[in-house]
Amino acid sequence: MKSIRNIEVNNSYVNSCVELYGWVLKKRDLGGLIFIDLKDISGIIQLVISPDNKNYKDACDIKTDYVLKVNGKVVKRSNPNNNIINGDIEVEVEDLKILNTAQNPILDENSLEETRLKYRYVDLRNLQQNFVVRHNITKAARKYLDDLGFIDIETPVLTKATPEGARDYLVPSRVNKFKFYALPQSPQIFKQLLMVAGFEKYYQITKCFRDEDLRADRQPEFTQIDMEMSFVDEEDIMNITEGLIKKIFKDVKNIDLNTPFMRMKYDDAYNLYGSDKPDLRFDMKINDITNILINNESQLFRSILDDNGIINCLVVKDGADKFSRKDIDKLTEYVKNYKAKGLAWLKYNESFPGSILKLLDDKELDSLKKHLNINNNDLILIISGDTNIVKQSLGALRVYLGKKLNLIDENDYKILWVTDFPSFEWSEEEQRYQACHHPFTAPKEESIPYLLTDKKSCYSKAFDIVINGYEAGGGSIRIHDMDLQQLMFEALGFTEEEAEEKFGFLMEAFKHGAPPHGGLAIGLDRLTMLLLKTENIRDVIAFPKTTSASCLMTDAPSNVSEKALEELHIKISE
Ligand code: AMO
Repeated sequence: MKSIRNIEVNNSYVNSCVELYGWVLKKRDLGGLIFIDLKDISGIIQLVISPDNKNYKDACDIKTDYVLKVNGKVVKRSNPNNNIINGDIEVEVEDLKILNTAQNPILDENSLEETRLKYRYVDLRNLQQNFVVRHNITKAARKYLDDLGFIDIETPVLTKATPEGARDYLVPSRVNKFKFYALPQSPQIFKQLLMVAGFEKYYQITKCFRDEDLRADRQPEFTQIDMEMSFVDEEDIMNITEGLIKKIFKDVKNIDLNTPFMRMKYDDAYNLYGSDKPDLRFDMKINDITNILINNESQLFRSILDDNGIINCLVVKDGADKFSRKDIDKLTEYVKNYKAKGLAWLKYNESFPGSILKLLDDKELDSLKKHLNINNNDLILIISGDTNIVKQSLGALRVYLGKKLNLIDENDYKILWVTDFPSFEWSEEEQRYQACHHPFTAPKEESIPYLLTDKKSCYSKAFDIVINGYEAGGGSIRIHDMDLQQLMFEALGFTEEEAEEKFGFLMEAFKHGAPPHGGLAIGLDRLTMLLLKTENIRDVIAFPKTTSASCLMTDAPSNVSEKALEELHIKISE
């Protein structure tokens, strides 16, 4: 076993002998003297091999990625390299053994993402430190939760569907003909059952599986730091989570966060930022100007106002001369991705141009100027139409502009709670109301009478933790009363039989002493991304999937033999 890592060999070892193991990062032959950068998990150290060394011939054959064992003497370098940690020393090789050879370097800085994923074990050599950070996060989380009396309990992976809004990954059962397990979208139901079992404080750092469209911050299998507690309210869960996040930031990045974190109601986040995960590292809120233009007679606005639509805008401070017509056309194309029909604009400068100038009278222009606190050279970008489309497209445009105009301080962390989520959200695809979080989330007391009759007005005891525009975690107080849970299933459109078939075991548990409880789960992958300041979730998952949910290294998912399918009672049909 190695007794010393590269980075630990420092000045105090000068004139001592060391035994090192590692990979060849680079080899240089300088007129007989061979220099090798030897890499291990800790870092790099320089080796020198002189022509009179007994292993010199072997050294000449060495290529990048060879695995070496080396014994040698630590000496001061004549040309120190101050850019690396132990750049003032090197090791004069006395004995060298090639432990393994390697084919020509398979990856270089120009390699395509697909090639890097195929040879992931080689690419991971450049990403090792990300996994050290990820490990440090889970270490800090375990310590924090252990100290508070949380118990780590594993829950099943072959299980029954737990609805979190995505499709399930299904596993056919060989023994139970024609039946399927579902991989858990989260341990949600099991952790609630652990509360019924009286564990009081549970945690688990565990894999979850969701068959959903993948994005830069989404993988089909990902990891949650999952918690559940009994006899708690919303405040307790938020306090415990704040302590956890604070400890992780301190232990991993030595950053002192101020608590309590800021709070914003869901409705405010949606109205002001067009999102339930606002990035507060820069200002630029969405302004509602519907009332200012309420009497506008132009066809554009009249038709929208008569259709109960809204008119909202963003003000780009000092932006008038930064955006040509062509640039604004590009912004228009961008918001069309979010179903906006168009993007109207006004520039406040001397000549006062704008795509809708003709549609506004002096009084309206004056009110806009006052209401929006407009200064010379400001640019106003306006979207009108259906409320959700207006909010979401301006929300997306805001984030796009924040990046484009460099309004975001990349070193900053802006953390907030988004609270008071609606209980239900309308699904266009399914043409029905669905649970905004999951069906076990407790509604606010005042919403209970309206669960069946006025879903739009119902709010829940649910909250998300948002960091720099990412949803880093979500949690809630749960329903622990059987009648209320039944009412919620009814509100979500489950028939009694469906509810019984899917969740009968949970309802049964509620008959046997279910304490009031609640909890939260943090997305470990997203938190690691945030701490590492990377925008690609693949940088923090050792063996990730592509956006089409495949693994280019193992070739999963793959075909299986006829025999295996037969045993599972499955026939493939085109
Ligand atoms: P939720 O569905 O909000 O809550 O998930 C919790 C957190 O998990 C992360 N996350 C993901 N990360 C990567 N890829 C994905 N596909 C993905 N989906 C979710 C996010 C998210 O905030 N059972 C509840 C928690 C609870 O109520 O206790 C749940 O799973 O960071």
